[in-house]
Parts: sequence; C-alpha cells; structure tokens
Amino acid sequence: MTDQIAFDDHKYWAELANDWHIRPDSIYLNHGSFGVTPYPVREKRREWIERLDQQPMDFYVRRLEGYLDFARDKLAEFVGTTLNNLVFVENATYGMNVVAESFPLAAGDEVLLNNHEYGAVHRIWQRTCLKHSAKAVTVKLPERFESRQQLVDYLLAGVTDETKLLVISHITSPTGLIMPVEEICRAFTERNIPVCIDGPHAPAQVPLDIDRLGCAYYTASCHKWLCGPLGSGFLFIHPDCQDRVQPPIKSWGRLLPALPETWDEEFTWQGTRDPSPFLTVPTAIEYLSKIGMENFRGRSRWLASYAEQKLCEAFSTVPIADRSQGWYGSMAHVPLPEGEWTELQHQLWERLGIEVPIINFEEKWYVRVSCHLYNTTRQIDSLVMSLQTLTGRASEVAPRPARSAP
Ligand SMILES: Cc1ncc(COP(=O)(O)O)c(C=O)c1O
Repeated sequence: MTDQIAFDDHKYWAELANDWHIRPDSIYLNHGSFGVTPYPVREKRREWIERLDQQPMDFYVRRLEGYLDFARDKLAEFVGTTLNNLVFVENATYGMNVVAESFPLAAGDEVLLNNHEYGAVHRIWQRTCLKHSAKAVTVKLPERFESRQQLVDYLLAGVTDETKLLVISHITSPTGLIMPVEEICRAFTERNIPVCIDGPHAPAQVPLDIDRLGCAYYTASCHKWLCGPLGSGFLFIHPDCQDRVQPPIKSWGRLLPALPETWDEEFTWQGTRDPSPFLTVPTAIEYLSKIGMENFRGRSRWLASYAEQKLCEAFSTVPIADRSQGWYGSMAHVPLPEGEWTELQHQLWERLGIEVPIINFEEKWYVRVSCHLYNTTRQIDSLVMSLQTLTGRASEVAPRPARSAP
C-alpha cells in the first residue's frame, strides 16, 4: 500500500515531474496522443538494448523467451488476465489488425462500430469488410451522454441478424469518454455477439480486469498512460477465439529450433527485432505502482477536472457528458465557442509552445487536454489564457515558455 498523496501537494508533484525530461520549449498537454516516457523507464530500456547488443546470440536464443514470459506475466497480472491469453504487439493498431485479419466474416456480415471510434480503426474494419463483402456499420451515439444504459441501448439499436462483432473503445479518442464496457460486454455477449475492445487509453488510466469483462479481444498500447516505452502494446484473446488467430508476420514463432504449439508462441519470434520496449513494460508498471496507481489517477483526474472547469468558465460551454458521473478520467474534453478553428492547434504550438489537440468532432470544435503527472495547474492556466486570446476573447498573449512551467 502506498501512502495517499494530496492532489494539490504542488511541491511533491513538481519534484516528481523532473522524472520526465520534456523539451523546455513545450507545454505538453497531449499525453493521450503520444505519451512521454519517464526517465527511469527510458534508462531501463537502454539497459536492455545494451545487454542485447553485447551478446545477441545468447540474448535471443537462450534468454529472450524467459525474459518475455516474465514481462508478459507482469503485464497480464496488471490488466487482469493470465500470460497465455496475452501477447506483446507493437501497439493497439497492430493488435486491431491481427483481430481484423483473423476474424471470420462472410458476405453480408456486419461489424458494428460507432462515431466515437478512432479513425484508423474505422479504416481497418472498412478494408477487412470490403475484402469479405461484409459491412462496417457506424452507429451514431447521442449528442449528450446521460446514462450507461442509454449508451448500451444506442449500440443495441444498431444490431441486426447480420451483426457478427462489436468494436468499441474503452476510452474514446476524439471525445475522451470512458465507455461503460462492463455493461456493453454483458449486453452483447448475452446476444452471442463477441466484443473487441480498443483500449490504448485504458491501462493505468482506469483499473483493468479483462477476464471479468468477458470480451473476445482487447488490444492496447502501453506507451500511453502506463508510461511504457514507445512501441509496447498487447493483444488479449479469449481462449474461445485463440485457435483462429495468427500473427501477420509469419516466422519461426518460437525460438529456434522449437516449433510453436500454442497461439501465443506464434507471436514470440517474428523475425529479428528489438524486444526492449516489451521487456521494459514491468519497469513502467513498477514505476507507477511505486507512486501508487490511485495517486496517479487521483492527481491526473484532479488536473483534468481543473482544466475542464477553467475552460468551461472561459467559454461558457458544457462538455457532452458529466464528469461527476464517471464519464471522464485523466483527459478533459471541452467544446470551444462557435467559430472556425482549423488553425488553432498549429497557432498554439507555433506561437505559444502548447501541444494540445483541437478536434473537430461531428462538425463542432473541442479541446482535449491530457493530464499526466508532469503537468501542472499553471500549464493549464496558460492554455486557457492562450485559447482565450487566440479565439478573440482576451487581448493578452501568454509568452512562449523558455522552459516547462514548474
Ligand atoms: C482509441 C484509440 N485507438 C487506437 C489508437 C492507436 O494507438 P497506437 O497508435 O498506439 O496504435 C489510438 C491512438 O491514439 C486511440 O486513441
């Protein structure tokens, strides 16, 4: 058990922020797109590369499998499943492609998605459906999220006799919403429709118990909120679906000379590559666990809530769901005032050194603020002031920072 740290203990959090070596000209409020890896995790990755480079034959042939199993076991425990149900992949995109390539679809079948899904995920399923003369169906979710049951009902309304799979984010990319995946999985598995969860924002941002969810597939990136190295992700496959899954890259599967016997062994050896991101995942888990997962969630949510409140006050707008009802975690997603804001994200970076996504979703503009442990209320204040200025609501322009605000 780690001690609880006050969310507003600025001294503690400011010291901790030194673990991230973020370029001093940047206010980085976009961990949701590309996570910044803390220095102790980056160091550990470098150590793995060094060990590999010093004796590749011994590392790959005699040791790698054991190292990978250790790392896989730690990750499996962290996300609530067991080693044999989970493989390392480079990222959530890779995992989703594995599912799309192996899922049995016939002409006329339907794959159900919704309008909050990640753009690349739509593209993956459109291509797969086209190949099989199947159909990727996109349900439009309500403009305002009122209840968990309302969401389930909207998704169920898209089900037909032809629906073979539901693809759903755990936390949505364009809107930062935590989906009620427990209720969704229950409702769809009751109807014998398997669920594939796209979860790159979930590990660490929310507690995970994949086995309990009962989904068929779960894919995520560890390089986002969990702070793993770039290029670390995983794919979970329910035991009922494992026999039809193959990696897209065919190689030895297991290390020479043993042949693969189980589905997960097929993923071990996919040609000679750098395994250091996977091997460093236990270090990332350990890093955040030492701070305390509850402290991480508490602080990052407290900051996101601060950002939401300040932005809503500044623009007199209301988010599409209520934070107090559990719809949001470490990201704030706030509507911008009426206007044409195509250039805003670029201006924030070029003029003020602020890295934050300005998103056009269903023809309205939003700002999505990601809050990790290196962020501060001062950075959020700078963002709010800068947005007010650039949208014509204030005249003062905040100066571009010489270094990350403390
Ligand atoms: C919901 C969602 N799915 C998938 C992805 C793709 O993740 P990656 O680029 O790590 O594969 C992202 C990336 O931001 C995302 O937000």
